[in-house]
Amino acid sequence: MSQLTLEQAKDEMTESYGVKSIHVPVMLQEVMEYLRPREGNIFLDGTIGLGGHAESILEAIGEKGRLIGIDRDQNALSLAEKRLEKYAKQCNFIYGNFRDFDNISKDLGIRNLDGILLDVGVSSLQLDNPDRGFNIRSEGPLDMRMDQNGQISAYDLVNSLSENEIATILKDFGEERFAFRIARVIVENRHKKPIESTRELRHLIMRAMPYRKKREKIHPATRSFQAFRIAVNRELEALDKALDKCVDMLKPSGRIGVICFHSLEDRIVKVKFRDFAKEGKLRLIVKKPLRPSEKEMDLNPRCRSARLRIAERI
Ligand SMILES: C[S@@+](CC[C@H](N)C(=O)[O-])C[C@H]1O[C@@H](n2cnc3c(N)ncnc32)[C@H](O)[C@@H]1O
Repeated sequence: MSQLTLEQAKDEMTESYGVKSIHVPVMLQEVMEYLRPREGNIFLDGTIGLGGHAESILEAIGEKGRLIGIDRDQNALSLAEKRLEKYAKQCNFIYGNFRDFDNISKDLGIRNLDGILLDVGVSSLQLDNPDRGFNIRSEGPLDMRMDQNGQISAYDLVNSLSENEIATILKDFGEERFAFRIARVIVENRHKKPIESTRELRHLIMRAMPYRKKREKIHPATRSFQAFRIAVNRELEALDKALDKCVDMLKPSGRIGVICFHSLEDRIVKVKFRDFAKEGKLRLIVKKPLRPSEKEMDLNPRCRSARLRIAERI
């Protein structure tokens, strides 16, 4: 499987779809090796994104195979649909949340699966678009919704939750040491005027940080942004619920792979897989999560924190 450099991939994406951002599929080689998609298989890609992993899975399952591709971001889903046009007959593209997979599979008349991939987190398409409000380094509205039809944005959380609720989000989802200091600065300042942009939020977080923290290489607001994003999209809850539903749909010897970029998500997968193993439902294929190779990290630094866990249905 050849791997494009980030620049080559960006050029290809700009040429084909007119978007300047590319999401390079993370740990593609490992995903294919461990999920082992075969001719005629039925696969779920619960986070189809820009269709990078899906494309390789579709190649492997061939014309008799079927892929259900879900994404809660309609924009990403349309791009995936366009990219995977030539496989249209083998695909169901579903705009939705993977936590609802029980209903989605019922509607599609699917009873079981040979393989499942969840690549949770934000895509580069989302991260690189300042209007989506995910990126700490660009100026944009405080949005952070993966599903642009979602009811609650980061603006709503930042401007209406109590000081205590904000601190809890920062502590629980960002493991932020200075959660209470940040929450206090946010609440004190929003009385003057609502906090509307990523820049305003970033500045307030910086103001709450002790001097030594302000000089760190990783932006001091990174944890807080991540925490608000997780809260807006209820990411941990979705993953937890989805794992129960998806694992029940796997055929014996069918495999599930989950890529996480955050230790809290990875912990959910670890604990669920361990519990399913105790119940005799799953067998762990790797005891410790797989990590991207040095080469992949050089080509695509954004994959650095990725962890891939794989298990097999008994
Ligand atoms: C890291 S990207 C996936 C990239 C994809 N594997 C590829 O190769 O292009 C994650 C995607 O999952 C979607 N997503 C995250 N949580 C989701 C959920 N609960 N249900 C459906 N889609 C979700 C995001 O909108 C995003 O497009």
